[in-house]
Amino acid sequence: MNGSAAERRPRLVAVGGGKGGVGKTFVASNVATALAREGRTVIAVDGDLEGANLHTALGVASPRASLADYVAQREEDVAKLVVETPFANLGLIAATQAHLGAAQPAHFRRARLIQRLRTLPVDFVIVDLGAGMQHATLDYFLAADDGILVLTPEPTSVENAYGFLRAAFYRRMHLTLTSGLVRKLIAQAMDQRNEQGIRTPLDLVREVEARDPREARRFLHALHQLRPRLVVNEVGSAEEIKLGFAVKSVCMKYFGMNADYLGYVNRDVTARRAVVARQPLVTAQPDCDAAVYLGRIASKLAAGAAPEAS
Ligand SMILES: Nc1ncnc2c1ncn2[C@@H]1O[C@H](COP(=O)(O)OP(=O)(O)OP(=O)(O)O)[C@@H](O)[C@H]1O
Ligand SMILES: [Mg+2]
Repeated sequence: MNGSAAERRPRLVAVGGGKGGVGKTFVASNVATALAREGRTVIAVDGDLEGANLHTALGVASPRASLADYVAQREEDVAKLVVETPFANLGLIAATQAHLGAAQPAHFRRARLIQRLRTLPVDFVIVDLGAGMQHATLDYFLAADDGILVLTPEPTSVENAYGFLRAAFYRRMHLTLTSGLVRKLIAQAMDQRNEQGIRTPLDLVREVEARDPREARRFLHALHQLRPRLVVNEVGSAEEIKLGFAVKSVCMKYFGMNADYLGYVNRDVTARRAVVARQPLVTAQPDCDAAVYLGRIASKLAAGAAPEAS
């Protein structure tokens, strides 16, 4: 691994999306591999403890260590959990060996885990998240420098992507604001039949502003740091490519979030073949369209601003 990376902290990237099966692991494994092929040092982390399969996507048969060791408090040093992959510059922290239904680490150990992932001496740490909107999943997404939201052009996926952003919005609010009064307001807003008539997350911010301008300012500051990066996967037509722009504008109008459309990937039979062959597509079929689009997404991500050294 590149020694110069040791002086700066890595970019922490989380890949989520609410809905199961939309291609989170596919995008995470391929973007990680594409960055490694460009010469960046990368550690891919499987944050899906219940459905761990990132190791298989990266062609690692049975990792000798895993996040389950951290959860069970057998190993505190996350650097010791990194295993090699078949690819230069790319390490893996797997999530295998977990007992059935293994829980995520408790909140404070999760915060410590995220802190430690930030000390790994590489350019990028890429966390593949599970489906759903558990607090653990949202916390990785909110803590990341880049939160990638994967969705597909299906109403169910779009609905879950909005649900995920809404949950992330409220989680951010819950973690940022301290006033008891405001917390009560949040709880009321989340009740669909709220009496305040709060309809959108931005209505809630206006309501908070009216009662406690300092709290509202603090929240808006935290909200502006949240910049979801959208990836539309399994695109089948030019029309479907536009979905990313539509979601971007809804993010601003409804959540006040400045989302960024990172790119799209076409639906491609070679994707499935690569998964069956337990290989990332960008190495199995580097010239196919989907691999080229994944490479573009990786380059665009790498071109984004690096986090400030802490
Ligand atoms: N662009 C694509 N074209 C064709 N098939 C794809 C594409 N992207 C993903 N797939 C297929 O969809 C399946 C599900 O992808 P993946 O496992 O990455 O989803 P996921 O969001 O990580 O699921 P989970 O929520 O279970 O973690 C994969 O087996 C893969 O073969
Ligand atoms: Mg997955």
